[in-house]
Amino acid sequence: MAPHISKVAVIGLGTMGAGIVEVFAKAGHEVYAVDGTPELAERGKGFVTTSLDRAVSKGKLAEDERNATLDRITFTAELADLADADLVLEAVPERMEIKHAIFTALDDIVRADAVLASNTSSLSLTEIAAGTAHPARVVGMHFFNPAPVLALVEVIRTVLVDPEVVDAVRELALNLGKKPVVVGDRAGFVANALLIPYLARAIALYQTGAVSRTDLDNAGRVGIGLPMGPLTLCDLVGLDVVKEVCEVMYDATKRPSDASPSLLKQLVLAGRLGRKTGQGFYDYSADAGADEGESTGGMTTAAAVVGKGEIAELLATSLAQAGVGVTRIADPDADVAGLAGSPLVVLVGDAAEGCASCGGDGAECGCGATESPHDWFTGVAGVLDERSVVLTADEASEFALTGVLPADVAVLPLRLHRPTKGGQVAEFGIPLQATAEQVATVRDTLEAAGFVPIAGPARPGLVVDALLFQHLNDAVAMVDAGYATPEDIDTAMTAGCGYPVGLFAILDELGADVVADGLVEQASLDPSIVPSPLLLEHAAADKPFLAR
Ligand code: 3HC
Repeated sequence: MAPHISKVAVIGLGTMGAGIVEVFAKAGHEVYAVDGTPELAERGKGFVTTSLDRAVSKGKLAEDERNATLDRITFTAELADLADADLVLEAVPERMEIKHAIFTALDDIVRADAVLASNTSSLSLTEIAAGTAHPARVVGMHFFNPAPVLALVEVIRTVLVDPEVVDAVRELALNLGKKPVVVGDRAGFVANALLIPYLARAIALYQTGAVSRTDLDNAGRVGIGLPMGPLTLCDLVGLDVVKEVCEVMYDATKRPSDASPSLLKQLVLAGRLGRKTGQGFYDYSADAGADEGESTGGMTTAAAVVGKGEIAELLATSLAQAGVGVTRIADPDADVAGLAGSPLVVLVGDAAEGCASCGGDGAECGCGATESPHDWFTGVAGVLDERSVVLTADEASEFALTGVLPADVAVLPLRLHRPTKGGQVAEFGIPLQATAEQVATVRDTLEAAGFVPIAGPARPGLVVDALLFQHLNDAVAMVDAGYATPEDIDTAMTAGCGYPVGLFAILDELGADVVADGLVEQASLDPSIVPSPLLLEHAAADKPFLAR
């Protein structure tokens, strides 16, 4: 018979456990909130009370509801109190022996039909279940941090579990107002298996020293449009948890990008676990200084914008509004001799969909459209020398300059990303020729022009697409492996990680061909990057992943 779940218990009152207690109690359940000692139980009560008080002060919860919610919770350090619980969920530290010890002790306490649930984010649920006397009643119920806010609950089934238990827990999650996704027992389940490698790649990039933490966070938050940057999110989740999931993922996949970056290991060893210890990638202590400032070069006073189309217009207008003296050249026949010595020259090649010279398909000028060098830009290149910093806003302009400029001229690839809630990212790559002063000037100029600047090595994908495209590829590989559907993955990432839209919605908007081509370019630097076969098939068939 399907279990009826009314009275619940949560064991472990850390960040997750306390949040889950709040979720159950707010939904009307009687809750036992358990921790190892009376002091820890009292600390847990403090977490829940503070959170409810915050909700009251924000006007989101009435005072009497707050009191009624707290009245439904019994804080205790005694497992023996849980004899009448219908479901016991553990949220204790991620060590198999602790989980087994708790479930073994519960075997002698709870009813034979009580459901035993685990909030594990990194351990094998099958191994947890197999170590108990009644594996058929053990199920995963994985919440996301902050549990009161994020709607996803991954319900994890094992080969040992009674399907009625899975159905009952799914139903329970729905009644809590959550979005359950039922999945099999696989390293990282859905959301962590996608999120944590993305976070690990960001940490790996940060530890090279080539990208600042502010720029990395802006790449995720503003560039991709996610609710938080990757390093800030690591600090929220807890660096110990990120590391544990990395290790489980690496164990399962043996992909270099899943391995725990050495900086992550060092921070965990140092006890800098993020917000919960007051320090992680950032310092949360009251006396923490301001964030690292990027070196300032002072914005440029003059710039030339050469090219056609919306991006060229946007750049020219934004720079002019920032007070830069802009020379705008939108006519391929215009005299470019005056550009000699111009401190900043921006070339925009393919925005006009076609050749930058003829603006069309190449028929007029015989250039073979965007793949060919353009007379226009090679003409511009002919008057430039090392006094100018050249920004190329797309591949067509990069291509046009290849082998044309003297080797000591700094050519910086520039990419404007679509605007998101946090602003519009203008990221640029730093070639070896660029001096620190030039880099700082470009950064300050882009910032003054209203963009969120991001700087990193001048390599395929720069920062934003290097993070995003591999994240998307992981999602496609998960579908290819038959573990989850695109719809389930999009639900997991929106409901579990607050993504404004799912990964497949982003992928369909960008186009599978664009992402696949980008990954092939990135693979030229890192052979472990392999576009998923399913991605290549969708690219070839020009077929979106989601039904429109
Ligand atoms: N408890 C209760 N409510 C909270 C809260 C908490 N700990 N933190 C934030 N909130 C509420 C705020 O009160 C606010 O409510 P309101 O809009 O009704 O006033 C709302 O959430 C938004 O908070 P803020 O305005 O302070 O800040 P943001 O808009 O930046 O949102 C955030 C904060 C909800 C944390 C959002 O940034 C977010 O969703 N970030 C992504 C978090 C994420 O990815 N979590 C999953 C991590 S993976 C995981 O947990 C699995 C594990 O196994 C590793």
